[in-house]
Amino acid sequence: MERVYSTLKPLLFRLPPEMAHRLAHAGLRGFQRTPLLDPVGDRFAVTDDRLETTAFGLSFPNPVGVAAGFDKNAHLPPALAALGFGFVEVGGVTAEPQAGNPRPRMFRLPEDEAIVNRMGLNNDGATVVGDRLARLDVDVPVGVNIAKSEDVPPGEAPADYRRSYEQVTGADLFVVNISCPNSQGFAALQSYDSMAAIVSELVDAGASPLLVKLSPDLPERAVTDAVSLVSEFDLDGVVATNTTTERPRTLESPHRAEAGGLSGRPIEPRATEMVRYVSRRVDVPVVGVGGVATAEDAYRKLRAGARLVQLYTGLVYRGPSIARDINRDLLELLEADGFDSLEAAVGVDAEA
Ligand SMILES: Cc1cc2nc3c(=O)[nH]c(=O)nc-3n(C[C@H](O)[C@H](O)[C@H](O)COP(=O)(O)O)c2cc1C
Repeated sequence: MERVYSTLKPLLFRLPPEMAHRLAHAGLRGFQRTPLLDPVGDRFAVTDDRLETTAFGLSFPNPVGVAAGFDKNAHLPPALAALGFGFVEVGGVTAEPQAGNPRPRMFRLPEDEAIVNRMGLNNDGATVVGDRLARLDVDVPVGVNIAKSEDVPPGEAPADYRRSYEQVTGADLFVVNISCPNSQGFAALQSYDSMAAIVSELVDAGASPLLVKLSPDLPERAVTDAVSLVSEFDLDGVVATNTTTERPRTLESPHRAEAGGLSGRPIEPRATEMVRYVSRRVDVPVVGVGGVATAEDAYRKLRAGARLVQLYTGLVYRGPSIARDINRDLLELLEADGFDSLEAAVGVDAEA
């Protein structure tokens, strides 16, 4: 698989990113239907008690998950689990199918190991995704990311999120996405009253375990507000972070000027700081996401307080063996620091 990807990568990278993404998807869907799924799963699984963890009442074979946006329509959890990921977050889904923004809407920044996207939440809609989730047979937790429909005004957002949730109840966990920079009205969703109304509606509808996903662009006040929601509504976790509309000065690629959310290596420090900030202030598990491409990146987030990590951009640049590589190298990092489990390392740098 690694060799196949290193041969294919230069070809894929010559195609427009969205076309390359669709081809990679088609390849994974094809692979999922072959008898290769189990043998590949055996090769890619890093099975080790030290990597196992529990959070939100669920068991995870390892802490490395796929972030929202990679498998928006829930086609791929079996293939992603076979590649060694410990969990998968599908979506973001909206109540009705959406086409998203006009193309091009996804840009590679290879010099920066980053992506800028303004997909605009293209997805098959909660009913279709919910049906796929209900039929899934996969032995890692599968979460679903729920977002606001494009044409729904912020005042009607709570009912809209509820409608989506009611179609996707087959997932193992639910992430309320109030942090996508590519959809209109998202800034308004991040006020305290608005977040509280959405969360309260989902709690009332029975969404559990329920996690909230935060933007790295939130001012400190809004982060404090989001953190207080966790205790007020007994939320089960926090996902930190989504993409950023900021552009660090270090970016080299010409595509840095494209509008949209930046992900990958350049957001790693900011996302890790947010994990540290949030994990010090909540007593529920934090999922760290943003710029994870190596075991060192994952370990930094875990030590900063994340119980689990997720990635998207790293998969594009490092290829399908990324989860296996991170898990294998994480074991070495744990050993070098004398930790007998991953859980022992979680949060050791939270005060740093
Ligand atoms: C093309 C693309 C689409 C994304 N779509 C979503 C989405 O629908 N919902 C969401 O919460 N996050 C979405 N994200 C954000 C990722 O889940 C993740 O938070 C972010 O990319 C940072 O992680 P990374 O640096 O590992 O990519 C998307 C990211 C990318 C690159």
